[in-house]
Amino acid sequence: MSLSFEGRVVLVTGAGGGLGRDYALAFAERGASVVVNDLGGHMKGGGKSSAAADKVVEEIRAKGGKAVANYDSVEDGEKLIQSALDAFGRIDIVVNNAGILRDRSFARTSDLDWDLIQRVHLRGSFLVTRAAWNHMKTQKFGRIIMTTSAAGIYGNFGQANYSAAKLGMLGLSNTLAIEGRKYNIHCNTIAPVAGSRLTETIMPPELVASLKSEYVAPLVLWLCHEQCQENGSLFEVGGGWVGKLRWERSLGRTVRQKNQAMTPEAVRDQWDKICDFTDATKPTSVGESLQSVVAVLSQVESGGEVGMNPTAAAASASGINPAEAVGQKLPPTTFTFTHTQCILYALGVGMSTKDPDHLRFLYEGHEDFSCLPSFGVIPSQAAMMEGGLSSLPGLNIDLTQVLHGEQYLELFKPLPTSGTLRSESSIADVLDKGSGAVILLDVNTYCGGELICYNQFSVFVVGAGGFGGKRTSNKAVAPLPPPKRAPDAVMIDSTTRDQAALYRLSGDWNPLHIDPSFAAMGGFKAPILHGLCSFGFAARHVLKQFAGNDPSRFKAIKVRFAKPVMPGQSLQTEMWKEGNRIHIQCRVKETGDVVLTGAYVDLHGAPEASPESLTQGEGLQSELVFAEIGRRIKDSGSELVNKVNAVFGWEITKDGKNAAQWTIDLKNGSGSLHKGPYTGKADVTFTVSDEDFMTVVQGKLDPQKAFFSGKLKVRGNIMLSQKLEVILKDYAKL
Ligand code: NAI
Repeated sequence: MSLSFEGRVVLVTGAGGGLGRDYALAFAERGASVVVNDLGGHMKGGGKSSAAADKVVEEIRAKGGKAVANYDSVEDGEKLIQSALDAFGRIDIVVNNAGILRDRSFARTSDLDWDLIQRVHLRGSFLVTRAAWNHMKTQKFGRIIMTTSAAGIYGNFGQANYSAAKLGMLGLSNTLAIEGRKYNIHCNTIAPVAGSRLTETIMPPELVASLKSEYVAPLVLWLCHEQCQENGSLFEVGGGWVGKLRWERSLGRTVRQKNQAMTPEAVRDQWDKICDFTDATKPTSVGESLQSVVAVLSQVESGGEVGMNPTAAAASASGINPAEAVGQKLPPTTFTFTHTQCILYALGVGMSTKDPDHLRFLYEGHEDFSCLPSFGVIPSQAAMMEGGLSSLPGLNIDLTQVLHGEQYLELFKPLPTSGTLRSESSIADVLDKGSGAVILLDVNTYCGGELICYNQFSVFVVGAGGFGGKRTSNKAVAPLPPPKRAPDAVMIDSTTRDQAALYRLSGDWNPLHIDPSFAAMGGFKAPILHGLCSFGFAARHVLKQFAGNDPSRFKAIKVRFAKPVMPGQSLQTEMWKEGNRIHIQCRVKETGDVVLTGAYVDLHGAPEASPESLTQGEGLQSELVFAEIGRRIKDSGSELVNKVNAVFGWEITKDGKNAAQWTIDLKNGSGSLHKGPYTGKADVTFTVSDEDFMTVVQGKLDPQKAFFSGKLKVRGNIMLSQKLEVILKDYAKL
């Protein structure tokens, strides 16, 4: 469908000629109401005339478009925006385009040459944009373009003043993109090349004529359209070509050792490495940029070897480069289904009409017809199945060496029994386990705009380890061992000879599960059952045993796949109830082999949940996490004291007010947790809202990022925040 700007009000500065005129005409042609601003001065900044803007307005009106002229200088930013409000009642889009040149070699640049250029380009863009900002914020829509130049990006002889102002606009844009994001205000920067009066002095006439300014406008229009989600980016554009630019950073080198001074000689000696762009990274935010610096601090302090920095080390010989891979997104996938897929899946995981209470999952006419909660893995698996992983930068892996290691599924509401679901996948982390690499793939699945479920696939790539990366991640949802006592309940179910043949119809077509010769190549005697099929058996066992087959009580499931199951074998699910968490372990009954380990299902409390768990909450989600931390300290406090050796104070806020205080003492005795401030002095105290605490604990927000963004305040020894991972890691996804 063509992009329409009907109803949008656009201000283009410096639109009396050159590029600006083309933008104004193009916006108007697509239905926008346009304010054509131009001071009408000459190229070096002097003079003033209304003719330039008037002419463009006439052109637009002659074609049936809507436009008004404004003759103010961009230095009167408010007046330009007022023109838009007076004429059209709103302002949606600002294209900062006005510009002049006062080229001089640097030695001859006068104060006036400098100031005029800064005033028109940088200060003008600031004043115009600031005047529009609050209007955009209130209406939760805004698109802003800054115009930079190759002279700013690369430097150009005789343009010191212009280069400085032009790259200043990029810096301005970068920050506006961040501040505007949550209001749907997007800001991008273009560096155009086009024949105009500004370039006719430096380009040959034929080039000026062929680099038409109309070859730039289409990019500007797309960036300003409501459909375009691009924000904070930089593009070069000209002659019908458009390209995107980004920063690249060498892996660098740590040139300091513990307890030794950092010297210029050490910098000199590592110079080649510092400047070597092999395996370079591409940081995209201050947080990412600072992360490696902060990591080096703790690496040096712990006496770690001097060498490449941690992210750098992780990019060695193998095809895996976490710095590049983490955060990468796979193309979104959609999954459309009806009751047929729900029923097929239920049969695939062993449901049967023999069991009367299975009918609600097998018969679409049943009054409580429902979809099994573990079906939540099905819509999300497409991203994995289509082999997209190996196409991502930094993940040069051999797909034949990939094993499904672990799975976590969390449901935010019961699954629908039909519809279209959309899944968005991204690489949450990449770990180095020595013998292999573990890729954590996070998949969020939506129905319309609503988040329905979250999956984390842990994919083990045999032989891809040894790249020097970290072994653990606070993004990983960890498996948990079952209690030591005998299980509280056991359920046994046999799989049929055709279980895998049936399960694969739900979308996992890997021949390993049906083709004997393919299975033989993988070293198996016969085709094996899908790990996610056993997962489905275990999930429904818990659902039946502890939740009366009520899907709305099912919150989450985590499993680690330990050994294969052959179709026809019997699965024995052992279950331990600990509050709303049911620990599970699954064996093959015939052999005794444990096939699912570290597994658990979290249920939503039953209506008759214990009064203790209800009052404990006091409305704070963090209370539950602290309760878990308390249990963990009881179990393995001495070990934690050895590892951590510090006292942590926590101040949890709610609606801006102090809501609870906690002290985690992992320094004295065998550790303790108590509610309230520490009577001595905590080594470090964190202040954080209840909500942000949960996002950190769940691994959705990195503590360092939380700190840099002001969500986590830290008093005391800030380096100790590195140890939070030890305390919080197992509580991810509580
Ligand atoms: P142009 O000179 O044809 O257009 C600039 C317009 O801005 C003129 O109509 C001028 O009257 C107006 N203007 C100047 N000062 C003003 C002020 N204080 N208030 C309001 N209007 C004012 O130049 P062109 O080539 O169309 O350039 C547009 C933008 O693109 C400029 O910001 C320029 O620096 C930038 N640019 C252009 C390149 C090119 O190859 N044409 C290369 C890189 C950047």
